[in-house]
Amino acid sequence: MKDKLIVANLKMNMIINDLTDYLPKINKFINNDNVVICPTSLYIPYFLKQKYKVGIQNIFYKSSGAYTGEISPKQAASMGIEYVLIGHSERRTYFNEIDSDINKKVYESSKYNLKIILCIGETLEQRNMLRTTKVLKKQINLALKNISNFDNIIIAYEPIWSIGTNIVPTNNDIEKTVSYIKQVVKELTNYSNIKVLYGGSVNETNIGNIININGVSGVLVGGASLDADRFLKMIEVAVQG
Ligand code: PGA
Repeated sequence: MKDKLIVANLKMNMIINDLTDYLPKINKFINNDNVVICPTSLYIPYFLKQKYKVGIQNIFYKSSGAYTGEISPKQAASMGIEYVLIGHSERRTYFNEIDSDINKKVYESSKYNLKIILCIGETLEQRNMLRTTKVLKKQINLALKNISNFDNIIIAYEPIWSIGTNIVPTNNDIEKTVSYIKQVVKELTNYSNIKVLYGGSVNETNIGNIININGVSGVLVGGASLDADRFLKMIEVAVQG
């Protein structure tokens, strides 16, 4: 798959009965460790030990202790989970996750060698006010504060107005923004190998186009990954495209 990463964020979807249809298909046909699936945490054990990788949708920033309802990077790593989504816009929006929390999560996850998918993106209002670059720069600066190893960090550029809306920026916009993100990381950290994914309304029809945009290292997919057939089709297109 030319080393492109396809990450599925299943969010808070599916009940256990849905997995009886979903899992056999993806377990049989996904034979590629550049595919990462992030199920609801409760179901993670059902997804482990397959030919794809598993990620957790959220994480806490302490290693253990009296934090009811939370899961630590140490616990996740001990289960064989290799990836973690940090700072998804739904966490920022509905759970008031702020940049300093995100920074602590990145720091703690780094300690356990989890591969971090750091999500950043602007709202429609910010975009319309031409503040996109400013917003992204601030998110990157704050999330990576005091972080010294970037080998396990991947940035997912997810414009909030594109998530779940079927509206996707133009190729040119994605290319320009991804290039800007890399430039900001380089300026801040001197690290020039950062991978950047695109996320927001990626589906089986547009993945072939998006994944080939200059500088894009892969995609983060929400809604279209909930149907096993659609998701498999996306992987097929990305592999062949
Ligand atoms: P979507 O979600 O593919 O349904 O737009 C993407 C995401 O939230 O990561």
